[in-house]
Amino acid sequence: MDTKDLPSVDQLSIEELTAKLEPDLLPKHIAIIMDGNGRWAEMQHLSRVAGHQEGIKSVREMITVCLELGINALTIYAFSQENWNRPVQEISSLMGLLEYYLSTERAKLIEQGVRLRTIGRLDSLPASALQWVRTAEQETSHLDRLHLTVALSYGGRAEIVDAVRELLHEAQDGNLRPDDVDESRIQQYLYTHELPDPDLLIRTSGETRISNFLLWQLAYTELYFTPTLWPDFRRRELLLALLEYQRRERRFGRVLSTVST
Ligand code: IPE
Ligand code: IPE
Ligand code: MG
Repeated sequence: MDTKDLPSVDQLSIEELTAKLEPDLLPKHIAIIMDGNGRWAEMQHLSRVAGHQEGIKSVREMITVCLELGINALTIYAFSQENWNRPVQEISSLMGLLEYYLSTERAKLIEQGVRLRTIGRLDSLPASALQWVRTAEQETSHLDRLHLTVALSYGGRAEIVDAVRELLHEAQDGNLRPDDVDESRIQQYLYTHELPDPDLLIRTSGETRISNFLLWQLAYTELYFTPTLWPDFRRRELLLALLEYQRRERRFGRVLSTVST
């Protein structure tokens, strides 16, 4: 493929963008910082909650596209530890939306073969939200077409703190010596121990920071920042992110092959 074809992706249709994807070069695990719901709502003269509601539609579309493309893991940042500092009313709307999403979507998740997991300090969640989470996790625990991980009350530093605490408990019990601690041992104690590290991180809304998300796991992840606000991030925007990801991988390949000939 000629590099002169690359800048024109913005003008391509969804079908043309999809056709450009190379199945072998797709990420296996995508992580997303879903940001910009509030600004989207403000631009439409709506309440912030309306922005979060619209954002749920983007989540649905990400799941659909991942399933269609055979992408096996999707991890979404839905509520950070720091988000507990938001106004009480917004927090309770978000928790209400979480319950609404899980109660209305669980049948569809099961039908689609989606396994839902959560990561974070979930004991801070209201009891009824936590109950919906546990129900959805249980009901989907046998599925594996798509591993959907929802980060809730999540902080990357807290995750590392929790891992260190568990390691120290093991040491206290006499089952761990300092030399036994290596990267894979720490990895075993992370909330994400059952998942591969993300290949691609997407953050919407133009912010170019990590905001305490997956600090350990993002060590070698490709980062993709887009000004698009989360409620506007739909199939087309995901395809553009995937094409950019492929381009980065491919360019690296070409340099190597040029050098070797
Ligand atoms: C992301 O959108 C959703 C959550 C953090 C829960 P925001 O609510 O952060 O939207 P902005 O950044 O204020 O636009
Ligand atoms: C990050 O977005 C957290 C989630 C998307 C859940 P924030 O809007 O909370 O992050 P900051 O405050 O801009 O860093
Ligand atoms: Mg934000």
